[in-house]
Amino acid sequence: MGKLDDIYRRSIDDREGFWADAAGELEWHKRWDKVLDDSRAPHFYRWFAGAECNTCYNALDRHADGGRGDQAAIIYDSPITGRQKRITYSKLRDKVARCAGVLTELGIVKGDRVIIYMPMIPQAAVAMLACARIGAVHSVVFGGFASNELATRIKDARPRAILTASCGIEPGRVIPYQPLVEGALDLAPGIVESIVVTQREEAAWTLRDGRDHDWKAALDAAAPAACVPVKATDPLYVLYTSGTTGQPKGVVRDNGGHMVALKWSMKNVYDVDPGEIFWAASDVGWVVGHSYIVYAPLLHGCTTVLFEGKPVGTPDAGTFWRVIADHGVTTLFTAPTAFRAIKKEDPQGKLIGQYDLSKFRALFLAGERCDPDTLAWAQDKLKVPVIDHWWQTETGWPMASNCMGIEPLPVKPGSPTRAVPGYDVQIIDEKMNEVPRGQMGAICVKLPMPPSCLPTLWNADQRFIDSYLADYPGFYKTGDAGYMDEDGYIYVMSRIDDVINVAGHRLSTGAIEEVLASHPDVAECAVIGAEDALKGQLPVGFLVLKAGVDRDDAEIVTEVVKLVRDQIGPVAAFKNATVVKRLPKTRSGKILRGTMASIADGKDFKTPATIDDPAILDEIAENLKGIGYPKG
Ligand code: COA
Ligand code: AMP
Repeated sequence: MGKLDDIYRRSIDDREGFWADAAGELEWHKRWDKVLDDSRAPHFYRWFAGAECNTCYNALDRHADGGRGDQAAIIYDSPITGRQKRITYSKLRDKVARCAGVLTELGIVKGDRVIIYMPMIPQAAVAMLACARIGAVHSVVFGGFASNELATRIKDARPRAILTASCGIEPGRVIPYQPLVEGALDLAPGIVESIVVTQREEAAWTLRDGRDHDWKAALDAAAPAACVPVKATDPLYVLYTSGTTGQPKGVVRDNGGHMVALKWSMKNVYDVDPGEIFWAASDVGWVVGHSYIVYAPLLHGCTTVLFEGKPVGTPDAGTFWRVIADHGVTTLFTAPTAFRAIKKEDPQGKLIGQYDLSKFRALFLAGERCDPDTLAWAQDKLKVPVIDHWWQTETGWPMASNCMGIEPLPVKPGSPTRAVPGYDVQIIDEKMNEVPRGQMGAICVKLPMPPSCLPTLWNADQRFIDSYLADYPGFYKTGDAGYMDEDGYIYVMSRIDDVINVAGHRLSTGAIEEVLASHPDVAECAVIGAEDALKGQLPVGFLVLKAGVDRDDAEIVTEVVKLVRDQIGPVAAFKNATVVKRLPKTRSGKILRGTMASIADGKDFKTPATIDDPAILDEIAENLKGIGYPKG
């Protein structure tokens, strides 16, 4: 048995000892009574019950006062605006304490929720850490979501305040946030009391008396607030993620277990040491941003790069290499789609040669399946280990990865390697049996899950049980399907629900369908994820019109495309739809989305025996041809 096997076995056979040791790396106001509280098993497990701690203290004060005061905590690099900034641990602690002071003056106390709707600027991290400092529960909403999505989250989280900015910036356009936030408040009135706004040069927010506060003026005037001890089991944040319906799931993250797992992962999974420069090229609106732009690097005493730009076009496909060289990045984490975009613009990787990447040690990819071509291209051009790893919003840190800080294993293209210590991953069939190696099944994790994994959904214990625990009693259902090989390598092949993955972003086809169905001319609809060479998948809509509707199909398609952009946001990347006479269904009325997706992808498929009318599939194929599917 190798070192990894030993560590893995202990993490399963002696969970409590394993995680208690890891917890020793952090500071606690009060030690736990129990490492793992399983008194509400089989559904609810809590880590470090009885302990008190503060995540912000461990991420900032511990380092600011412990010899890292002058080290950069954040390097803000914004090719889209041409701005750069280095913020030391001391300075960041000061800003966060003042921001926490502003929240306190607004009456926000432990347990209150605060929504953060911000672009990739340092204030976003300051806002998150300020909430953590006083025990307020933050909920970050990705800037690419429109008013309706923001309103849904406001209604569910019931925040007392929103921390925001005057605008986001996308290539070629400035996105003023005020209309988006005001639109959301119109849809969810009477909940939010205060708004604190960072004014950016590119657009102004008109402050409304009594409700709005200017970020800079408020922070300058505020008294710094101290860290408030919270229970390890208290929520640090709620992050909404796509489920099968339009109502997103509020994934709850606690304080104690989250700190412990994230800190452990920095050395053991990513092989990064305190003081080194870590860069997750994602967005604070996603879990990758929460875990690996903000919390994990800071908990570990690293410098984190906060990048406001795109892999291509800001200004070119060499931006990533420029950032790595300028700041001495050792480890980059991004989504495969970013590399597909770079590869498309610079297939020979010529721009890479223009930069000094001597400090760069490893590339980690996650967020979607990493296709072997992209993996091979990155390995060939960068000449560093390229590590595909697999996890999700619900877990907050990797479930499967090559653990580079323990014992690197050979890479097998198409696999994120083996289960990470703490996760007892099994592939299960409908009869609850573990399937033989090499056979597909539902990828599940035997309970209890390790620290940081969601203890429940926000205000929705029953939905938590129904969504994740009910189908495979004793297991957590990841929602992914795949197989495990003889060496324990996991292959994540597809989702078993209606979630699709577009440019590394998780989207619900059900949510898009709800928007399409709201169009007055649409009687029935379906949305599938069709393969896309750049973004992995793209949503495609099928519309059946109400009887008697006699309008131009193209007009209706244009309208529904706009509707999705306005209601969900540009991030849905919904641009393709077609009007069909009927949808293919089983005799019991279930829409055959999987079969439609196979047709769109040009894959062989078996006509389902339960289909009510097989001739519909030819019609669907004709329609798809009309909008360019299958591609290539
Ligand atoms: N605010 C407002 N709009 C946003 C936004 C934000 N924060 N993020 C994206 N959008 C918009 C884009 O401008 C685009 O608008 P458009 O339809 O007018 O062109 C739309 O949402 C779709 O965005 P995206 O899917 O990201 O496509 P893109 O063409 O702008 O960029 C990539 C393609 C591959 C360069 C980009 O997706 C990327 O960098 N991906 C990296 C992966 C990543 O960060 N994943 C996160 C999880 S790790
Ligand atoms: P999110 O919660 O947005 O991070 O999305 C998580 C989902 O993305 C997972 O459940 C998978 O479907 C997919 N995913 C993430 N990482 C990988 C990976 N390395 N390989 C395959 N799929 C992945």
